[in-house]
Formats: sequence, C-alpha cells, structure tokens
Amino acid sequence: MKNIAVFASGSGSNAENIAKYFADSNDIKVAVVLSNNRNAKVHERMRKLNIPTFTFSRDEFSEGNSVLAKLKEYNIDLIVLAGYMNKITAPLLNAYPQRIINIHPALLPKFGGKKMYGMHVHEAVVAAREKESGITIHFVNENYDEGAIIFQATCPVSPKDTPEQVAQKVHQLEYAHFPPVIAKVIQKHT
Ligand code: GRF
Repeated sequence: MKNIAVFASGSGSNAENIAKYFADSNDIKVAVVLSNNRNAKVHERMRKLNIPTFTFSRDEFSEGNSVLAKLKEYNIDLIVLAGYMNKITAPLLNAYPQRIINIHPALLPKFGGKKMYGMHVHEAVVAAREKESGITIHFVNENYDEGAIIFQATCPVSPKDTPEQVAQKVHQLEYAHFPPVIAKVIQKHT
C-alpha cells in the first residue's frame, strides 16, 4: 500500500475528492491530512471519511520535526498539497525529494507566485482578459509555484466570465485530473 498525506488549509474539496477516488483502491490511500488551520472545513470532510487530520502551527511546519514524525508514523510515500497556504521548507523537501506535489489553479508560469492564491488567481486571469485558464500540477521546490511541471489542463475563459465562474471551471478540472495524475506520480516516483 502506498500512503498519501494531503496538506490543506481551507475547504478541502480536493482532499475529499482525492480520498474518495482512492477509497476502493488496494494500492493507494489517503492516510492522513495535515493542516495549518484547526478551523478549516477539511477536518469535517475527513471526519466523515474516517481519515485522521492533524493541525500544526506555522513554526512546527518550518522547523519540520514533528511534521516529519507524523509522516513517518503513517508511512507516507507522497505528499500532496491541495490548497495548502504555507511554504514548504528544507526539512520536508530534503526528506521527500521529488515526492511533494502541488496543484495550482492557473496555467503556470503565468499567475503564480507569492500573492497568487485562491480567488486572487482567478481575478487576475479575468483582469488580464485571458482566453483560457486551467490547472498546473507540479513538483514542489523552495519557491512558490516554481517546481517542474508534471501536468496541465486548460479551460476556455469567455469575456463575460466572472472570477467565480472561472474558479468553478478550474475546480472541475482539478477534480477530474488531480487523482489520476497522483496515481501516475506514485507509480513513477515512489
Ligand atoms: C484549489 O483551487 C487549488 O488549486 C488551490 O487551492 C484551492 C483549494 O480548494 N491551490 P479546496 O480547498 O480543495 O476546495
């Protein structure tokens, strides 16, 4: 069995979708969810699926030891960032080389970087009158949104689309593509 840890800071709809996708698998499962936000909705979603969640402070994440201990406890093979709003620091990157991936709700290298998260991304896409947006799944390195790209998928953006409508289209791409891409990364890199 290959074990995934999902890191999520907010709603956790991707975490839920990934967990459900692998629920019947004999090979892959979401073993644990880690968050930096104890009030995040992801905890409630995981409770319903019987998946344990733990909250760590920003300092605990950057110092790394307690987080690494938790990942070891659950025999984690791959870390999946799904709406995780913190930087991944050296201790984790060193412990999981090429085994931490993130999903970004736009077509990197456009609309990435420090302030590009959540609705800010979709607002920027609409303001720039882009004709398309999409998702980027990439390996994580020490800089936000800069690791090697694994997969992208696109959706059209019409001049009438609001940021909320773009967000909805992007979420549909995330739900359709993230779990199978995770399965492929596990096959190839763990
Ligand atoms: C997703 O759009 C993801 O691409 C981004 O944050 C959002 C998380 O949504 N990194 P949810 O918490 O999975 O609903």
